[in-house]
Amino acid sequence: MAYLLKGVSVLGAAPTDLVIKDGVIAAEPDNTAQVIDATGLVALPGLVDVHTHLREPGREDAETVDTGSRAAALGGYTAVCAMANTDPVADTAGVVEQVWRLGREAGLVDVQPIGAVTIGLAGKQLAELGAMASSAANVRIFSDDGFCVADPRLMRRALEYVKAFDGVIAQHAEEPRLTEGAQMHEGEVSTRLGLTGWPAVAEEAIIARDVLLAEHVGSRLHVCHVSTAGSVEVLRQAKARGVRVTAEVTPHHLLLTDELAAGYDPVFKVNPPLRTRKDVEALRQALLDGVIDVVATDHAPHAVQDKECEWAYARPGMLGLQTALPIVLSVFGENWDLIADRMSVAPARIAGLTGHGGDLTAGTPANLTLVDPSYRGVVDPSELASRSRNTPYAGMTLPGRIVATFLRGEATVLDGKAVK
Ligand code: DOR
Ligand code: ZN
Repeated sequence: MAYLLKGVSVLGAAPTDLVIKDGVIAAEPDNTAQVIDATGLVALPGLVDVHTHLREPGREDAETVDTGSRAAALGGYTAVCAMANTDPVADTAGVVEQVWRLGREAGLVDVQPIGAVTIGLAGKQLAELGAMASSAANVRIFSDDGFCVADPRLMRRALEYVKAFDGVIAQHAEEPRLTEGAQMHEGEVSTRLGLTGWPAVAEEAIIARDVLLAEHVGSRLHVCHVSTAGSVEVLRQAKARGVRVTAEVTPHHLLLTDELAAGYDPVFKVNPPLRTRKDVEALRQALLDGVIDVVATDHAPHAVQDKECEWAYARPGMLGLQTALPIVLSVFGENWDLIADRMSVAPARIAGLTGHGGDLTAGTPANLTLVDPSYRGVVDPSELASRSRNTPYAGMTLPGRIVATFLRGEATVLDGKAVK
């Protein structure tokens, strides 16, 4: 199928016509193309998420590769990197190939599996990183996300190992001894509520250590969900020295603060926890400056019984795929160059996903999304495509609607609805 996007604004530029044919942005018009009136719509390269929890295998009651892919396409994504903390853990070539194949079958976004750094995420022995890298899933990012690779020797070995195939270790930076029993950000609010705190230094100490390790061995480090102003300063210095480090921030850490814990609604429980206004401001500035490279969702679906319970027993995490772009738009406005870079170009580069994060010029793969920036909508959890309902944005009015998404020239979303 060929498409003609009539009157579309590419990254906010003056309206033009864009033809999609044979999987690429075409140079010539095509009379057989299906015409889409794109007046007032902005075309962006398809969004790429380097941090998505799809829960399959093991917790298909919370999400599957299919439902998560659907949420992703509806959120404007054309590729997502699936975190390894499934059951069984994605720590072998067999499991990463299974996830990769499920992604192909769903056919809505490219699902790029992330492999575990250590066997069973237990932090004791390196997983078969080489076998995962050379498998059909072609794994390049490795992460024990959910847990920190706390042992410095293991972290060093992992960094050294992936250097051979230009892999990257994505660290969930949390010094476990400093966060035992932690329930929320350690600060004024935790003191007032009487909840055990998760201090900023538990994140900052691991990032500081890991940038030194990455510098020492000359490897690539990626820091997951950066959440504190202090972490930003550590990253700023490391980057200024030329350390090969990249970092992500989540939409929720760009918007929400620890004050939200005061209602004890576990929908706001997340790891790392929501921080203070000062941290939020520093994270926004870091994304603008490029000290933080990308926005990543940390989409973390959880079943009702794991979320609608007492705060202390609730699992950490929140949905993110369908609200990421609206949140970023609400925080930064229609800064399309920033949005394209931090949500598509840079994440595709970090994950090594060629074909994504392109510039939408003729001949490039037609991975793109069409946004209506004038739209304002109220977030209704029951309308989300995820199998779970744990969005912290329920009832909020947010700007922006994904009208269409194309994966290699095929529509995955049209008229704001998934095509299959
Ligand atoms: O909030 C979180 N949820 N943080 C993590 O690191 C893991 C994730 C999950 O798997 O639910
Ligand atoms: Zn994490």
